[in-house]
Amino acid sequence: MEKYIATYYRVLEQLAREAVSGDTLRDTLGTVVKKTASAMKSSGCSVLLFDAESRRLLHAVSHGLSDWYIRKGFLDADKSLSDSLEGQVVTVLDVATDPRVQYREMAQRQGIASMVSVPLRQRGNIIGALRVYTNEQRHFSADDIAFLTAVADLTAVAVENAQLHEQVATIPRAAGDAMFSRPDALRLAQDLTRPMPFAHPSEEEFAGLLDFYKIQWMYEPRSFPLEWDGDKVKEMFTPDFYLPEVDLYVELTTMKQGLIREKNRKLRRLKELYPEINIKLLNKRDYHRLLAKYGYGPLGRAEVQKVERILLTTSEIDRRVRQLGKAISRDYTGRSPLLIGILKGVVCFMSDLMRNISLPVSVDYMAISYYGDQETESVRIIKDLDRSIAGLDVIMIEDIVDTGMTLNYLLHYLTERKPASLEVCTLLDKRVRRLVDVPLKYIGFEVPDEFVVGYGLDYDGEFRNLPFIGVITPTGFTKSTDRASTTASTRRGKKKPKKSPE
Ligand code: IMP
Repeated sequence: MEKYIATYYRVLEQLAREAVSGDTLRDTLGTVVKKTASAMKSSGCSVLLFDAESRRLLHAVSHGLSDWYIRKGFLDADKSLSDSLEGQVVTVLDVATDPRVQYREMAQRQGIASMVSVPLRQRGNIIGALRVYTNEQRHFSADDIAFLTAVADLTAVAVENAQLHEQVATIPRAAGDAMFSRPDALRLAQDLTRPMPFAHPSEEEFAGLLDFYKIQWMYEPRSFPLEWDGDKVKEMFTPDFYLPEVDLYVELTTMKQGLIREKNRKLRRLKELYPEINIKLLNKRDYHRLLAKYGYGPLGRAEVQKVERILLTTSEIDRRVRQLGKAISRDYTGRSPLLIGILKGVVCFMSDLMRNISLPVSVDYMAISYYGDQETESVRIIKDLDRSIAGLDVIMIEDIVDTGMTLNYLLHYLTERKPASLEVCTLLDKRVRRLVDVPLKYIGFEVPDEFVVGYGLDYDGEFRNLPFIGVITPTGFTKSTDRASTTASTRRGKKKPKKSPE
């Protein structure tokens, strides 16, 4: 047997063991790139993950490539060996001249002569690519490609394992999603490239804040050359963070004036050379202002401190409400539905949803209160509809369906008024607590058995104006069995009579 074949076998055996070892994904992928590069006698190897939303390929782990090459700029999935996203193996004999290579000049400077890109497949989906780089021109043989394909498959298995571990515990998910949704490449790449430890405590604090708000971030993903000496780069600038959702680079700074001056100089230069780049220099006080600007404050402090964690971010809610609006517009084509909301929790959802329905709609509201004790509790309508609904297509809009009792009562009440049709659209479905089976046609998210606030939902009248949905532990609230009474007494205004109607 050829010697290199024996090496390929041995490395595959080691990588197969590594893929199921239970090591962290960072360690496993680190081993993959190192051993693959060495088995192939190549100069470098990297695993790239595909972010479907931005259509970028993100460097997750690399071996043998310099820092500046990894941070050279984002790889556009449609420009960088794009056929490998179609599931093909792409080989490049001469990087210097092949138009399928996005950063030819940089690759040459890195000393790369040839490369090969093998897709990472996960049940029919392409989730990224495994790439191998060589310093001398090389024709990759059928054996090389068979070896790399097997490595790529093992890598995809390791990635999937890590995702399953994470996703088993991940609720909420958009209702209707498959149990395990498509990989979130950005989040994985973010975890893999998170420095351990961070270079500076302020970076760690900022990352923690972004994590709390579930704002996606990338750590030092790109270096910008600022000055050259001939064709050698003399000065570079690598901003600390990139926030892809708002397309913003962030450089953190302390209050030391000398440092600020130097950073400001670099920033000015960067803006001259790269005018399309959106970048901000932030000190600690500025973080909160920035978050406020993007809809995560001013709440900053008092209120948010009581929120244990964010369940659904503003952008996740926006995206889902848009999808629901589209589905309703499609299902009701040619009709003009009447949307009925139950005050007050529904106000944010109703106003966003109706603006995403491309049909003529009308809107009405009802308000209810609860009476009786917990055993004999009933619903009383304290604000009825303004007009008759007979013969109309009615959609009840709810903030959250918990036990289903309220909705059940209201559906009976409305059915007696003889609408042409009656359906329900709820933003949140706390399905695990359901006591009455109510038909829900449109569901935003399935949520766990926890008390949620924000985006219209309150606890004791507070938190309605949070732009996201967060989890709190109401006072006097211990385990799941107590939760019903806390939820109920809150909802029913028994804790604070002024709160009724909800
Ligand atoms: P159900 O009759 O038990 O389905 O209660 C539905 C109502 O309870 C909702 O319209 C809310 O007003 C309230 N509710 C239930 N769970 C929560 C929660 O987690 N946060 C805020 N309000 C809730």
